[in-house]
Amino acid sequence: MNHLTTAVNKTVIITGGSTGLGFHTARHLAAHYPGWHIIIANRSVSAGQEAVQSIRQQTPTASIEALALDLGSLAHVRAFAAALIDRKLPPIHVLICNAGLQMVTDSRTVDGFETTFGVNHLGHYLLTQLLLPHLVAPARIINVSSGTHFSSADGGAAEKGGMPDPAYTTAQAAAFPPPVNGGDMQFIGRQRYSTSKLANLWHTYELVRRLAKDTHLPRPITVNAFDPGLMPGTGLARDYSPVMSWMWESVLPRIPALARLVFRAEPTPMPVSGANLARLAVDPAWEGVTGQYVQGAQAVPSSPASHDERVAYELWESSKALVKLTPGEMALA
Ligand SMILES: NC(=O)c1ccc[n+]([C@@H]2O[C@H](COP(=O)([O-])OP(=O)(O)OC[C@H]3O[C@@H](n4cnc5c(N)ncnc54)[C@H](OP(=O)(O)O)[C@@H]3O)[C@@H](O)[C@H]2O)c1
Repeated sequence: MNHLTTAVNKTVIITGGSTGLGFHTARHLAAHYPGWHIIIANRSVSAGQEAVQSIRQQTPTASIEALALDLGSLAHVRAFAAALIDRKLPPIHVLICNAGLQMVTDSRTVDGFETTFGVNHLGHYLLTQLLLPHLVAPARIINVSSGTHFSSADGGAAEKGGMPDPAYTTAQAAAFPPPVNGGDMQFIGRQRYSTSKLANLWHTYELVRRLAKDTHLPRPITVNAFDPGLMPGTGLARDYSPVMSWMWESVLPRIPALARLVFRAEPTPMPVSGANLARLAVDPAWEGVTGQYVQGAQAVPSSPASHDERVAYELWESSKALVKLTPGEMALA
């Protein structure tokens, strides 16, 4: 396709597009899908702008910009959505909820939520609610989950990469866990991460169910979850000790055999996962597909727990209360 002659007439938003998976997704989109305006949305303005520069170096005609978004602040998410809706953008057809972190310190968002759950689930839940009425059909929403959502009992050890099983009771408990006094914070933090990735699946499937019953929003809006596979080299380990972050960011990507040994899982290069996510987000090959868990380039079954409709309902309703969704902000019953 010729970038110079292709009109830019659709917008795709990628949360957390400054590094790791989101960056490689944006880069692939810019290089291969010239009709799209790409918005990468993360906290660090300078990192976002550097990512844009780097993508423009490879694809000078890319239509791409970076906007500041902090999913750890409900006020910021609301301000971001309002500003986005006010702008004269090509129609927004795709929202990729990719940003994520894995806190192994006992941390809280400005709203008082445990940070991993607050950012990975609650921030995206609110953003999705606010943007839903502004998506233009055919629209796609992708929630980036992870193989860590499996439990060992599912036989999903290969996807888990040695991470602890998720542990979920209620959204209230996940948002406001008691302070960790003397516990194994590394284990607890990693378990909170697995749990947040299971929440991404409950959110995905509940959204699909509610969209199917909705009569107001334009159709189709498809919603899928994505597992990029194990990708050493991203910024995901930045809350770990300097030695562990260095291993994750600099050593393991160069020595896949070591990554295999440490995580008991096959690593996937970031550009490969980025290309897979970009295709899931915009490629005609995935048109009309909804309610799937896509691992790499293939739809596969997610864990039995992820299909628990009772928990998904509780998560949705409790999240609505936790983010204080107003009647005017509720796009779906
Ligand atoms: N790496 C893996 O092996 C792996 C495996 C399975 C799934 N995943 C999933 O892939 C997704 C991307 O992770 P990654 O590995 O690519 O990590 P990463 O390199 O650290 O990327 C995370 C992105 O999220 C942004 N971010 C973090 N906190 C944010 C916040 N509060 N508000 C807005 N943006 C925020 C970061 O930018 P700022 O810090 O500037 O905000 C960054 O752009 C995550 O959902 C992760 O769970 C990763």
